[in-house]
Amino acid sequence: MDCWKVKKLQAQNFRNLQTQVFDFAPGINCIFGQNGNGKTNLLEAVHLLTNKKSFRKNTSYSQMINIEGVNPELVIQSVFENKDEMASYSLRMTDESEERYLNNTFEKTKTPSTSVFINPFDSYSFHTSSTFRRQWMDSHISLMDKEYRQISGRFQKAMRFRNSILSIGGKNCSHQLRAIDEQIAEYSALITQKRVEFIQGLNEFITPTFKGIFSEDHTLELQLDSLFLHWDAQRIFDFYRHQEIADIKAQITKVGIHRDDYVFSFDGLNAFEFCSLGQQKMAFLSLIFAYIELFRYKFTSYPIVLIDDVSGELDSQRWKNLIQYLETKHFQVLITTANENFRKELETITNSKKFLIEHGTLINHG
Ligand SMILES: Nc1ncnc2c1ncn2[C@@H]1O[C@H](COP(=O)(O)OP(=O)(O)OP(=O)(O)O)[C@@H](O)[C@H]1O
Ligand SMILES: [Mg+2]
Repeated sequence: MDCWKVKKLQAQNFRNLQTQVFDFAPGINCIFGQNGNGKTNLLEAVHLLTNKKSFRKNTSYSQMINIEGVNPELVIQSVFENKDEMASYSLRMTDESEERYLNNTFEKTKTPSTSVFINPFDSYSFHTSSTFRRQWMDSHISLMDKEYRQISGRFQKAMRFRNSILSIGGKNCSHQLRAIDEQIAEYSALITQKRVEFIQGLNEFITPTFKGIFSEDHTLELQLDSLFLHWDAQRIFDFYRHQEIADIKAQITKVGIHRDDYVFSFDGLNAFEFCSLGQQKMAFLSLIFAYIELFRYKFTSYPIVLIDDVSGELDSQRWKNLIQYLETKHFQVLITTANENFRKELETITNSKKFLIEHGTLINHG
């Protein structure tokens, strides 16, 4: 199995990180440090390099460049390793440009691995906000399926156009709607089919992962809540004809895949309403680890897994299970914590590398 891992990383002018080389282990890397010292920044540097964007919302170059730096250029240099092969990748960003180099040659390609970021707050957002769920699912399907990303882009453009027709109204409105609805119906049918396939793939892994990590005797399943489930393009087009008068009156598209939602079924009950905070976090973690397994199934290679302090709400037995689970896996993990108790658990992993970050500086590692 191909599995490129980040071996070395050095960031210059990236947030509060000092210019120094992080030498990562191919397995588990534990990153300790008090609040506000640069743990998440380090994960962000890896994410920016491997996924071409930050995981922080609305973050651009101006937030990432070190505010105290004099050189207006952000650089991340790295070495990746896969068995006996090595490759160096670097990223240079300024306010106006972004350049990537593979073995010192200008390249457009990405690094050989992408990364998946696990954020404890995402669990809360995933369970409370349908907008967040939609965005989370869309971005994760897109990461695996280029065609989905392209069709979603076209759908959003077409939907914006439809809504602008509706907001203007007028005599020609109905005629214009028919033309755009042909496209919208076609995209909607394709996107729904891809969402269903993605969820089917995830469900293969969700329950076993949930049981495997959290030893829970429950079933967990993700479902798509969509009116257009298994509808073809013609049926969706006919639906929009039927809906036309109501939409013209409302001046907006009221129904469509842009309003689809996802539900976690926990023993047949809606997890968003039924589960405790700890169970919600376990369900969310199971979803992400299932995603990682699906990723491997599809690309025969694991992503790099970035886990940002997941200790809150999980009890110590669950921490132990989570650590045991990570120890059995063959992916590279960077896991951070500011929690002293969780740190003690992580310290017990013999086959892992430990880092301590203070004010953006790596002060010791073992
Ligand atoms: N552009 C920047 N330039 C310099 N420092 C920055 C920049 N952006 C953020 N910081 C600093 O980075 C620090 C936050 O780092 P980070 O989020 O990695 O902390 P953390 O170790 O993950 O903390 P926590 O345990 O609270 O999550 C803050 O002190 C912040 O001031
Ligand atoms: Mg943090």
